[in-house]
Amino acid sequence: MLIRHKKASAVASHEITPQSVYLNRRAMITGTGLIAGAAFLAAPHAQAALQNGPGVNTPMSNVKKGYSKVGTNDALTSYEAATTYNNFYEFGTGKDDPSANSSKFKPTPWSVKVDGLCNNGGTFTLEDFIKPHQLEERIYRLRCVEAWSMVIPWIGISLAEVVKRADPQGSAKFIAFETIVRPEEMQGQKSRFILPWPYVEGLRMDEAMNPLAILAVGMYGEVLPNQNGAPLRLMTPWKYGFKNVKSILRISFTEAQPKNTWQVSAPSEYGFYANVNPKVDHPRWTQASERRIGDFLRRETLMFNGYEEEVAGLYAGMDLKRNY
Ligand code: MTE
Repeated sequence: MLIRHKKASAVASHEITPQSVYLNRRAMITGTGLIAGAAFLAAPHAQAALQNGPGVNTPMSNVKKGYSKVGTNDALTSYEAATTYNNFYEFGTGKDDPSANSSKFKPTPWSVKVDGLCNNGGTFTLEDFIKPHQLEERIYRLRCVEAWSMVIPWIGISLAEVVKRADPQGSAKFIAFETIVRPEEMQGQKSRFILPWPYVEGLRMDEAMNPLAILAVGMYGEVLPNQNGAPLRLMTPWKYGFKNVKSILRISFTEAQPKNTWQVSAPSEYGFYANVNPKVDHPRWTQASERRIGDFLRRETLMFNGYEEEVAGLYAGMDLKRNY
């Protein structure tokens, strides 16, 4: 998303790591993607489309399927593309940097701090944070502001349920999310010229309460790979991909609108809401159409990424051209 970034269009073939190379790389770092805790321990997952899951990370069990209202009939993006064509600037600005440079990152043990304007905050181990919630599979479109998209089967928990458990105070109007800062494991964080760290994102409280919003801990039936935001990331499928902050360490309830990283870095290009909108172009990328990774032809971009029915009400009366 930086100016020096190459234009987002096709995935060049050299950018896709062959599966065999990828699997060998993962084999060398076995264990780095594991989440401890009984709910996550190996048991074959049952997702029909994933019966022969990628077999790279630990399979997840007790996952509820069938959130059909938001399911999509679009073909799933290949696991290989979803895990080798990434944006995660903590590991570098190239699309293949996150998969190449994230093997040192340790997503376990992990704790999540919940603080700010809430009555039930604290610091929780990831296992305790997840335990009260039902893991659900959600097949969502992911639309990057760079005009590429994917379809990914996430596994996550309802953000609304997490918010309810935190018991926000009446003055809490927004939620801020922060990525961990570990320059020794995340080489991109050694430079402040790439982005100001930590990566911060935010949602208005009613956006966070929308049933589509999840905190993802897995994908393709297995725990999240490091490059996709292990062990915990946000997924709000009606917004551009940059809202979906990875490797979350802290969740804070605030009165003021959080200053999200891309808006701070380039205010003329990025806003807070970042709802997918084919009618409002980004200065460098048309938003009218997109390239689905794996497809040859571009396709039309859908308002709110196809989730208009579920989320349009959140923005009734707002000027979506100004609040981009
Ligand atoms: N989160 C952090 N911490 N750092 C990042 O650079 N990139 C964002 C988002 N979350 C980013 C991040 C962008 S621009 C996109 S498009 C998505 O992650 C990409 O998610 P994916 O790599 O799993 O497809």
